[in-house]
Amino acid sequence: MKSAKITGIGHHVPERIVTNEELSTMMDTNNEWIIERTGIEERRFIDPSKDTLANMAAKASKIAAERANINISDVDFIIFATITPDYFFPGSGVLLQRELGLEGIGALDIRNACSGFIYALSIGEQYIKTGTYKNILIVGGEIQSTALDLTTRGRNTAVIFGDGAGAVILQPSTDQSGVLSTHLHADGRYAEELYVKDPGSSRPHDERQPEQILDTSTYKVHMNGSMVFKHAIVKFNEVINEALEKNNLKKEDIDLLIPHQANLRISQFLQQKLELPDDKIFNNIMKYGNTTAGSIPIAMSEAWQQGKIKENDLVCLAAFGSGFTWASALIKW
Ligand code: UT7
Repeated sequence: MKSAKITGIGHHVPERIVTNEELSTMMDTNNEWIIERTGIEERRFIDPSKDTLANMAAKASKIAAERANINISDVDFIIFATITPDYFFPGSGVLLQRELGLEGIGALDIRNACSGFIYALSIGEQYIKTGTYKNILIVGGEIQSTALDLTTRGRNTAVIFGDGAGAVILQPSTDQSGVLSTHLHADGRYAEELYVKDPGSSRPHDERQPEQILDTSTYKVHMNGSMVFKHAIVKFNEVINEALEKNNLKKEDIDLLIPHQANLRISQFLQQKLELPDDKIFNNIMKYGNTTAGSIPIAMSEAWQQGKIKENDLVCLAAFGSGFTWASALIKW
């Protein structure tokens, strides 16, 4: 069975930079608080007159295809991870397919939030191994900005999230390189600790109709930040060690850890726990905030562009987020 290899990677973020200072003019927050608690200095927000999730994803996908040396028309399956699809349904996979002119191929949508990209990678890996598909396009991306409560009431989430998309091309490996293993977990007991309730089907008919909704706060992200934080630091560490053990590898073998960009303090905690030097962990949350399913492919793409991922490197991806879900992947590049 051939393993699955990432042969091309790209990302796209909107042009508009939103600094902590700009957010401070909209709500009671400040640059010092945001940097101290999250490490975020700025994030990107879309221009709703020209950016959509599908077109950002298409831009990232074209870069990934070019770097994989394939034509976009060679893509034979799409997997799209996002929790902010263009429409409530259908998912953004079909919109990306339309945008890229890939009529007829399958498009699968994944809703596992911050872990979404690794869940998607894991599915793509199985299809490659079984020989079902040969050029899978996997995308993770979000438009969070237009859903944020940009007032003081929403400040615990509004300062964290940003927009952007990343994409990879997954192909059968011709040598020993590729995805070594993926590890997926979930614990639905914590579903409501980080969620958006509406427009969900949990409501009875008379509460589900938009004209009857008086309180729209249930359309915004609800997050129990400290609870998420506490679980994240434990599960990130566990799932990375699980991947290492599965492959008989040690933490010293990791050449680059790319954690989901949730909070710089979480990344720093992990770095300390795994005793990784600065050049073995990649963070770009400072520039983009938390782009949920987009964060890992955007970070991986930037790390690759900066020459921080080289052939034969052992790259570890890890994520934790809404669900709760958490996941890891080890890749021999
Ligand atoms: O993507 C995966 C999912 N997300 C995460 O992994 C996020 C995990 N959690 C976190 O990153 C952190 O919990 C936060 C960054 C969200 C919050 O940091 P914290 O250190 O846990 O702060 P806190 O929520 O305990 O709030 C501390 C104080 C509170 O004031 P009082 O009650 O102490 O007076 C908040 O009201 O900070 C206040 N606060 C703010 N102050 C200024 C909350 N948000 C802000 C803000 N600006 N934006």
